[in-house]
Amino acid sequence: MRHKAIVQFDGEKAQINRNIHGHFAEHLGRCIYEGIWVGEDSDIPNTKGIRNDVLQALKDLEIPVLRWPGGCFADEYHWKDGIGPREGRKRMVNTHWGGVVENNHFGTHEFFLLCELIGAEPYVNGNVGSGTVQEMQEWVEYITFDGESPMAGLRRENGQDQSWSLTYFGVGNENWGCGGNMRPEYYADLYRQFQTYVRNYGENKIYKIACGPNGDNYHWTEVLMREATPFMDALTLHHYTIPGPSWQEKGSATRFTEDEWYTTIERALYMDELVTKHSTIMDKYDPEKKVGLIVDEWGTWFDVEPGTNPGFLYQQNTIRDALVAGVTLNIFHNHSDRVQMANIAQTVNVLQAMVLTEGDQMLLTPTYHVFDMYKVHKDATAIHVQENTDNKHLHLSASKNQAGEVHLSICHYGLEEAAEFEFELRGWEKAAAHATGTILTADSMNEHNTFENPEVLKPTSLDGINLTKDKLSVTIPPMSVAVIKLH
Ligand code: AHR
Repeated sequence: MRHKAIVQFDGEKAQINRNIHGHFAEHLGRCIYEGIWVGEDSDIPNTKGIRNDVLQALKDLEIPVLRWPGGCFADEYHWKDGIGPREGRKRMVNTHWGGVVENNHFGTHEFFLLCELIGAEPYVNGNVGSGTVQEMQEWVEYITFDGESPMAGLRRENGQDQSWSLTYFGVGNENWGCGGNMRPEYYADLYRQFQTYVRNYGENKIYKIACGPNGDNYHWTEVLMREATPFMDALTLHHYTIPGPSWQEKGSATRFTEDEWYTTIERALYMDELVTKHSTIMDKYDPEKKVGLIVDEWGTWFDVEPGTNPGFLYQQNTIRDALVAGVTLNIFHNHSDRVQMANIAQTVNVLQAMVLTEGDQMLLTPTYHVFDMYKVHKDATAIHVQENTDNKHLHLSASKNQAGEVHLSICHYGLEEAAEFEFELRGWEKAAAHATGTILTADSMNEHNTFENPEVLKPTSLDGINLTKDKLSVTIPPMSVAVIKLH
């Protein structure tokens, strides 16, 4: 069947903040330990304790911003446990995630090293639920103050002379749940209090992030915006894609029915409604859109892989995950006026991961490939795409970068038929343009990469693109994410 879409070049929208392609790494399961941190004495090749294979994969992905240390872990984390000589660091229980020993070997210094090595901006999430105002204030001082002070002195004693640069700081996480089970009125007051002491030292300017709602909790957004708008730069939103009927039956990552496939994509697409409705509430208090909406946890959440620790949230990643990543990034591109950052959960070995590891082996997931293909949209201006099609299984976004190149992202989440596209390029000024494309697709809906066969799914070139003066036609197979470049 033939589908028409109009790409409206004179319908340019806001710039796509590069941070929309951000990531999240928590002290959870094998994300930090094993997945990122193996320690300097490990047999796995590493750079100052961080495994080289993962380091290279994350560097290649050009991750713009990385959120740490949680998640629920953030509101139990006491940062002073994670500094100083490693052998002397406090061993504690990670009560939230599997009840395992947390030896605090990965702390502030190691996190900033990781960010430096992969070229990502750090996003530190502070502790409101079980921490104090003083503890939060001192952490910011420890990280960013360059003068003479107790915390700057302590940092120097621990080997870091120069302060680090830190922009993104979250004041609590999920304070409506694991971060203290608070009511929005109470958290709004606490937020106002805590953020007062999140100071700007010297040239360092903190972008303050308040804990926002869970899914469709519009009341939370209303209260936070009403009570705290002048004190925040951004408000967060969390939404996970869970196909099953309950938290006890979320569904398998690899063994699922066609109905579950479509339910999964529908639940991912629900992000559009959430962003739209929360943004509408934000518009009431912030019509100039100065406060960003940050979706700092999103992605698929399935039952853990059989035989793995239920508290470790380890799941495989199929072409279905690739489609979830593609449609969700499209939604964020299309809402780039309000969405200023998003952080998929989580980077390695947890939930919808980019990378999976097993001992010294590593594989790239289909989700990794989508982020890699989509990185062309970072900092580009979103373009209006009008769909005129009765195929409900297509989802698009487009952008134009500073060099004048246009990228169209097409997600075809139907399971049966290929879709023949005809794009009308309205307002496209370049007569003799070229078009090239990349596609990630599969032969069956649960295809995935394994350690035995790590390259079953990887992007290939998209053939058969026809471009005339202002029309582009192409056929996209089912279960595909494609990116077309016009230049
Ligand atoms: O990403 C896993 C968990 O999901 C995070 O720790 C928490 O914030 C959310 O509930």
